[in-house]
Amino acid sequence: MSRLIVVSNRLPLGDNPSGGLVVALEDALRSSGGVWIGFSGEVVDDPSDDLQDNPGAPFDRLSFDLTQQDHEEYYLGYSNSILWPLCHGRPNLMRILPEYLDGYRRVNARIARMMLPHLREGDRIWVQDYHLFPLAAELRKLGVTAPVGHFLHIPFPGPADCAALPNPEELFEWLSHFDLLGFQAQRDLGAFAESARQLTQVTQLSPTSFLLDDRKIHAQVFPIGIDAAAFVAEAEAAPDEDRIRTLTDAKLMIGVDRLDYSKGIPQRFRAFQILLEQDPELIEKISFLQIAPPTRGEVEAYQVIREETEHLAGRVNGQFSTLNWTPIRFIHRSVPRNVLAGLFRQAHIGLVTPLADGMNLVAKEYVAAQNPEDPGVLILSRFAGAAEQMPDALIINPHDPHDLAQAMAEAMRMPKEERRRRHATLLEEVMSHDVAWWSRTYLRALRVSDQGHESDRMQ
Ligand code: ADP
Ligand code: F6P
Repeated sequence: MSRLIVVSNRLPLGDNPSGGLVVALEDALRSSGGVWIGFSGEVVDDPSDDLQDNPGAPFDRLSFDLTQQDHEEYYLGYSNSILWPLCHGRPNLMRILPEYLDGYRRVNARIARMMLPHLREGDRIWVQDYHLFPLAAELRKLGVTAPVGHFLHIPFPGPADCAALPNPEELFEWLSHFDLLGFQAQRDLGAFAESARQLTQVTQLSPTSFLLDDRKIHAQVFPIGIDAAAFVAEAEAAPDEDRIRTLTDAKLMIGVDRLDYSKGIPQRFRAFQILLEQDPELIEKISFLQIAPPTRGEVEAYQVIREETEHLAGRVNGQFSTLNWTPIRFIHRSVPRNVLAGLFRQAHIGLVTPLADGMNLVAKEYVAAQNPEDPGVLILSRFAGAAEQMPDALIINPHDPHDLAQAMAEAMRMPKEERRRRHATLLEEVMSHDVAWWSRTYLRALRVSDQGHESDRMQ
């Protein structure tokens, strides 16, 4: 039987791995007797080059450790100080050091070498995200001929941003070794095609196939979804004692994000300040809960965003708090999924306002968690991949605080009838394109693109 091999930077460890991606892939991995390979999260002095088995899941989990140097150069460096800002339209935040690229190449080559003894005839390999762009090329160097697909969870940069990389040509050389490239949104596929056209020798054979460095690759859009039915059930079952109590009858507005500069959190705080200045009727009537656990704290840009957001939240609270009411609660913690689902269900407004985002799963989780009889309103940035699928949200420009403040006011006063109508369409989309649909559709396309390659090879 053809096994599925998933490779991602982070391996979902723990006895009860949760989260949509894990659930979706767990199904696919279980039915094909598959393997998930990734970083254990352990930084050690002398890591073994044998992948370590991690029992306790319905599929095999093989992990590797990293040295401090690899972690700094591959993960914090090239992945999160070069590719992440670049793909999120912030090339000014890149920190380009030659050793970052060396470390990124070295770790990808090492992962390929460690994978080799575990691969069998008939395997299909599915590589996740920007940490592992060179992996197919490294596997090919070792003689692996299995179909290898890639899915990019974050946006693909346009030509101007790609040109700011230290190695734009190499990026496309790496990508040319995959059989199938998956993107979140049409705009990413468009950016890929345009960047390849301007920066490399590429021939576009059809809207979804390209000849890149004499290799034929397929590229398609597969918007990732959530485990929607499970999230609905979590929200319905959320314990009542987790309800947020306030001293006023304020409606809840919620934002849940990693504390990342791509998520537009300062812009939310500024818009909220404008709302309260321009619409004083809403004072004590709306309470903003922002949950944002710090992430990638060793990277300077993340230290800056933390200071900026704390300062802004303090300023708004200083300006508007009353004895009974604090406008912004800003929490730097992770919240268990069932509590999160319950908070989403209570919230009259879900704020998802990234400046750039591959998809943004929070938008889908917020919709899934609502009570369809009396749902809340999703305010969604036009720069989230999710906006292509969710036009019935209030779509805003996160760079314009007046536009966002206006959407907050509209959401606060939106009649129930309109909220129900918008929510019904959004929920239909979230349920029908869930994470199982995503992995099924991707893996079917990988099979088809491999059959295409097989017939090319036979000609
Ligand atoms: P990204 O992958 O950039 O972090 P997404 O919105 O696509 O952004 O996915 C984030 C995931 O992490 C969602 O499933 C969300 O519920 C979860 N998450 C984010 N912040 C928290 C938090 N504070 N507590 C629990 N889960 C969180
Ligand atoms: O969605 C983008 C992504 O980088 C994922 O690959 C990753 O799991 C998530 O964000 C969290 O980032 P990190 O693994 O760097 O904490």
